[in-house]
Amino acid sequence: QQTMSQLIVSAMTVIGILVMMIVISPLLALIAVLTVPLSILVTAQIAKRSKTHFVSQWKSTGALNSHVEEAYTGHELVTVFGRSREVEARFEEQNEALYQASYRAQFISGLIMPAIMFLGNLNFVAIAVLGGMRVASGTMSLGDVQAFIQYSRQFTQPLTQIGAMVNLMQSGVASAERVFAVLDEDEEEPDRADAPTPANSRGLVEFSDVSFSYSAEKPLIENLSLVAEPGQMVAIVGPTGAGKTTLVNLILRFYELDGGKILLDGVDIAEMSRDDLRSRIGMVLQDAWLFGGTIRDNIAYGRPDATEEEIQAAARISYVDRFVHSLPDGYDTVIDEEGSNISAGEKQLITIARAFISQPSILILDEATSSVDTRTELLVQHATAVLRSDRTSFVIAHRLSTIRDADLIVVMEDGRIVEKGSHENLLLTRGAYFRLYNSQFVGAGA
Ligand SMILES: Nc1ncnc2c1ncn2[C@@H]1O[C@H](COP(=O)(O)OP(=O)(O)O)[C@@H](O)[C@H]1O
Ligand SMILES: [Mg+2]
Repeated sequence: QQTMSQLIVSAMTVIGILVMMIVISPLLALIAVLTVPLSILVTAQIAKRSKTHFVSQWKSTGALNSHVEEAYTGHELVTVFGRSREVEARFEEQNEALYQASYRAQFISGLIMPAIMFLGNLNFVAIAVLGGMRVASGTMSLGDVQAFIQYSRQFTQPLTQIGAMVNLMQSGVASAERVFAVLDEDEEEPDRADAPTPANSRGLVEFSDVSFSYSAEKPLIENLSLVAEPGQMVAIVGPTGAGKTTLVNLILRFYELDGGKILLDGVDIAEMSRDDLRSRIGMVLQDAWLFGGTIRDNIAYGRPDATEEEIQAAARISYVDRFVHSLPDGYDTVIDEEGSNISAGEKQLITIARAFISQPSILILDEATSSVDTRTELLVQHATAVLRSDRTSFVIAHRLSTIRDADLIVVMEDGRIVEKGSHENLLLTRGAYFRLYNSQFVGAGA
């Protein structure tokens, strides 16, 4: 805003002075005016060059900031793995890149002011010489030339100011371009206004000819079909990177399909609203996600209007009750951001209580026991077994002993289903599941 009023004052001054100069001497006025296009040309040339350096200055700033943030939040990992030196070296490198870019940007854009001042001085000399000649020949009075020189000095002043503003704007434009790049990213497809809701959710899930890939060059899931009947437990097994997590993320509609459909109780999930869809699904993932808050808040997160009795009931079923009683503050114990005051297994039990309270019709367990100590693992298994009853569940487990009694076992490899059936049938087939099962058995025995 200040810039705006400054701009108006400058414009008025320029016009006023121009009129006075033309009144005194049109020829000298012409020379003075000539500096304007010259200054603009020079400014534009320099600005073009400095902008590329401003762009890389902001890019380096971004890279440096994210590196610092990563190193800060992952400080313990960095230390444990002895990577402090690498992190420091990368910081040095990025800091140097930022220094170079800033230096060049500042240096080049700093040329604008001196260049314009130089042009102004040239103009001054031209007017002084020409004016002097006219005084000598008697066509102009000395006073007129003196007045004209005063005016022309003031005339170039606003131009210098504009030059300074252009300098500032180059940096602004460069950083605005980065902001717009983020804004231009594809948005989530909006939910349909008339989104249908399956009346009473029974938990029937059908994958029909589903294809999906994260990037066009690397196809992942292709023409996958699968039916999970209401109340069934579907186990998904397979090597790391087979696409197990991706498959369950598709049910939650974190990504749009490239082909085919996923139906929930007969309704295409692409037509349902995301909130409605996700409110029907409960999730327990490998890394328990808790927020900074009390244990009570973390359980009630599944359903904010849950009563104290419901919270207690969910906590009992999921064995949270047991360890909470040994904490001095009980349910009011605040879990800090890092969650370092309770164990990984206990955190997992809290996320199971959270899933209980929301009473979803579909349950997703993605390697829920894999980062848990063996003592808590049994509790997690018991709790999830209760949680699974009466609802459709998708269980991803790398320990096959935990999914023996699944209604359907799906073996995935490279985004494809290579085998499916019950534990007994798959063992009889002596295929991929048989090999996987035996390798774990041997591994456990050794
Ligand atoms: N967000 C993502 N963006 C791009 N590629 C991904 C993403 N998540 C997973 N992938 C890739 O997709 C493949 C399947 O991953 P994932 O579904 O996590 O396998 P799994 O859970 O069976 O170990 C892997 O090759 C993985 O690198
Ligand atoms: Mg996974």
